[in-house]
Amino acid sequence: MALHCGKTCRQYLLHLAHDNVDFRLPEIKSLLSIVGQQCVPTETFNERSPFWRLYGLSEDDVRSVMARTVCAKSAFELWGHGRTVSELKLSVLEYPTERMTPFLQQESTYKINVYTFNKTLLFKDRIEKIDALGFLPFQGKVNLKDPDHIFCLLEDYGLDPNDIPDEPFHMYFGRFIADGQRELIRSHSVKKRHFIGNTSMDAGLSFIMANHGKVKAHDLVYDPFVGTGSLLVACSHFGAYVCGTDIDYNTIHGVGKASRKNQKWRGPDENIRANLRQYGTECFYVDVMVSDASKPVWRNGALFDTIITDPPYGIRESTRRTGSHKEITTPPENFAGESHVPVSMEYHLSDIFADLLNFAAHHLVLGGRLVYWLPVYRPEYCEEMVPLHPCLTLISNCEQSLSSHTSRRLITMEKTKEPEKSDALAQLADPRFSPYQGHNSFREKYFSGITKKNGKGNGKEPHRTKENNG
Ligand SMILES: C[S@@+](CC[C@H](N)C(=O)[O-])C[C@H]1O[C@@H](n2cnc3c(N)ncnc32)[C@H](O)[C@@H]1O
Repeated sequence: MALHCGKTCRQYLLHLAHDNVDFRLPEIKSLLSIVGQQCVPTETFNERSPFWRLYGLSEDDVRSVMARTVCAKSAFELWGHGRTVSELKLSVLEYPTERMTPFLQQESTYKINVYTFNKTLLFKDRIEKIDALGFLPFQGKVNLKDPDHIFCLLEDYGLDPNDIPDEPFHMYFGRFIADGQRELIRSHSVKKRHFIGNTSMDAGLSFIMANHGKVKAHDLVYDPFVGTGSLLVACSHFGAYVCGTDIDYNTIHGVGKASRKNQKWRGPDENIRANLRQYGTECFYVDVMVSDASKPVWRNGALFDTIITDPPYGIRESTRRTGSHKEITTPPENFAGESHVPVSMEYHLSDIFADLLNFAAHHLVLGGRLVYWLPVYRPEYCEEMVPLHPCLTLISNCEQSLSSHTSRRLITMEKTKEPEKSDALAQLADPRFSPYQGHNSFREKYFSGITKKNGKGNGKEPHRTKENNG
């Protein structure tokens, strides 16, 4: 989206899905940057609108975004737009004829769809709207089943379902180019996945994370808190080789108690590799192993193109690390012998993030990305709390709210500098980690909010979003 663009500049229209609104712009920006394109919002750009106009791109750029996005539903070559039918007509008639004619030929077939956002139209009203486009010089025949070209009139009735205007605020007309990958959310739903756990990341968010991470074919991607491997599933879908580690022996080996209702124990072959097999991406499985993210197990050097992860917050799973018997005094509450880790200690959230950023600084390739979730106690959150590192540049920070007082933020960082000795000291002194200092401080606040809300402190989680995790 270039800032200024003359009349003759080709424009594309994206129709965005209305879930995950905060994640949409970083997703589209990241996908455009994979093809070397920038996305600069215009002055009138409204991030929350279901329709975005993009400038300065080629049709191939748009197609490559649509081949990846789970935030955009469809893309159109924009032929005109306006606030009224007459404005739309004027705008379409100004569109260069030489760009229209290849799609209006006598020997080709076409159909026109009408899409309305925040309003349902009667069939007869749709037909009327299509008839009103009679000024367009279509030469070909209508074919509703399998047309050569599809056109669409899109009408925007605003964002307020309680205040729907009679006439749209804005309307657009364009040639359909491609649909996005929303279907992946259904086809990869954790409900139908072979191997799942209590904290399996939902499919839509996993694909968004892979897109924010600019994961590409032949990349090597690593998840240090891999769990059941949902993020690896998404990355392997885009052709990246994937590996991961987790402290939990049972999860890595796919044994122990099942997370599904009506199933006591995990069945044979319930593991991450089988998940990739389910989706036809087993060829991208490198391996997973039992390992503690707080311990250095990797050889020095840049090994990974992307590090993508959902660290433990101590909400549904404990934050723990291996330790020696000297270090530990009392066993943590949640350690009931299910894990095969011999001695387990508290792993402070502040240490988790410090270790994660430090690890990314050392083991990402230059230009590689770190994508992770940061838990947030909303009443106290401010941007300054987001952990930084001298070698990592913050790319985006998107909120997913979980309850009135808690949310998690999807943080994307890019490695822009190789680490030097002084960087480790700078990070140690960074006050940004302090909100996460002290074991379970986030957890305590999280439950304190629930106690206030419910009038009881039963330690149960509040209602979470569909298929959700964390
Ligand atoms: C939120 S879950 C990750 C879920 C995963 N994204 C999935 O889709 O299944 C966090 C994971 O971190 C693991 N974990 C906790 N402490 C760890 C540590 N010190 N090192 C490595 N993994 C750890 C837990 O066993 C858990 O599987």
